[in-house]
Amino acid sequence: MSKPTDVKPETLAAHGAYEGDPDCGAIIPPIQPATTFARDADYRLMREGMSYARDANPTFLPPEALLAQLEGAAAALVFSAGNAAASAVIQALEPGDRVVAPKVMYWGLRGRIGDFASRWGLDFALFDAADPDGLGRAIAGGRTRLVWIETPANPTWDVIDIAAAAELAHAAGARLAVDSTVATPVLTRPLELGADLVMHSATKYLNGHSDVVAGALATARVDDFWQLVESNRAGAGGILGSFESWLLHRGMRTLYLRVRRASETALAIARHFEADPRLAAVLYPGLARHPGHAIAARQMSGGFGGMLSLRVAGGAAPALATAKACRLFKPATSLGGVESLIEHRATIEGPSSPIPEDLLRLSIGIEHPDDLIADLDRALPKP
Ligand SMILES: Cc1ncc(COP(=O)(O)O)c(C=O)c1O
Repeated sequence: MSKPTDVKPETLAAHGAYEGDPDCGAIIPPIQPATTFARDADYRLMREGMSYARDANPTFLPPEALLAQLEGAAAALVFSAGNAAASAVIQALEPGDRVVAPKVMYWGLRGRIGDFASRWGLDFALFDAADPDGLGRAIAGGRTRLVWIETPANPTWDVIDIAAAAELAHAAGARLAVDSTVATPVLTRPLELGADLVMHSATKYLNGHSDVVAGALATARVDDFWQLVESNRAGAGGILGSFESWLLHRGMRTLYLRVRRASETALAIARHFEADPRLAAVLYPGLARHPGHAIAARQMSGGFGGMLSLRVAGGAAPALATAKACRLFKPATSLGGVESLIEHRATIEGPSSPIPEDLLRLSIGIEHPDDLIADLDRALPKP
């Protein structure tokens, strides 16, 4: 009997875009560690594109097919890291092209784009997402070919209107790429809102278990630019290992459960501490007072994500003391795993960081919300 095609995304995720092994009936994909693939008697490749594993490997196919389904994309690629995925896009630009990005975004990637731009002769312009005309001005200031946005943006969770950004980018002849690591396809589908490319640090929610470093891209169409991105992956060898691809695919199958649970708990924590006098602010797009709430409510569905930040009254010292005093939240970097993490971002980003010194970034896992609230309550300084 043929499989129904009009099923919900969580059903697609649970089935992993994999129909079973035709040889033995195994219901999950195998791990294929081969680096090279033999030709048939007519000297033809036995499977198109499968020649040498720096180009492609059968183990990449299930996570790529699943991500393409979940994002509503024409194609998807997995990479050795989120930054490798983003680099493959940046390296597809020509010298003199302008790339525009927000001031607040994942700092490691902003730095990487900046370094690359200065060596390859790209014109890199940052805009202030809080300024309604900021993006339009930055696009108009050069030969803009790529607009790179992240929403909600790490670690203040600023929200950028994807549909509006796509209109501005397209009017200037540029592509819009969205780092959707935090939103995931569970909460936002940027391609439906007009984006051309979606990028994920698959290290985070897509994998979800803090045991794989990976990246992914999904595209609205397979065109020359996408082919260049694909050849950048193959040329630079930014591929994911076979075991990591397999683990990523396994993690993706529970994406909906994990992201929904983390989002519900993040909202409960944000609401619980919203008016707490020990905090100067709670930054979470699910709160009505968050400046990006109205846009988030429009472009996100089913939740506002598992990430929030707390600004601790009194500055860096009480913020650091809170991070150290938590017993359930682990004091570690990264996000999107099943365990909750807490991090003092200014310490991690160093003296040039624009992030306020009182800010603690929380990645909410799948623990019971009451336990996480109690942990923070105990750890925050006495009023
Ligand atoms: C939002 C965001 N984008 C991109 C990256 C980079 O991903 P990776 O560490 O997988 O290279 C990160 C990593 O923290 C991130 O948080």
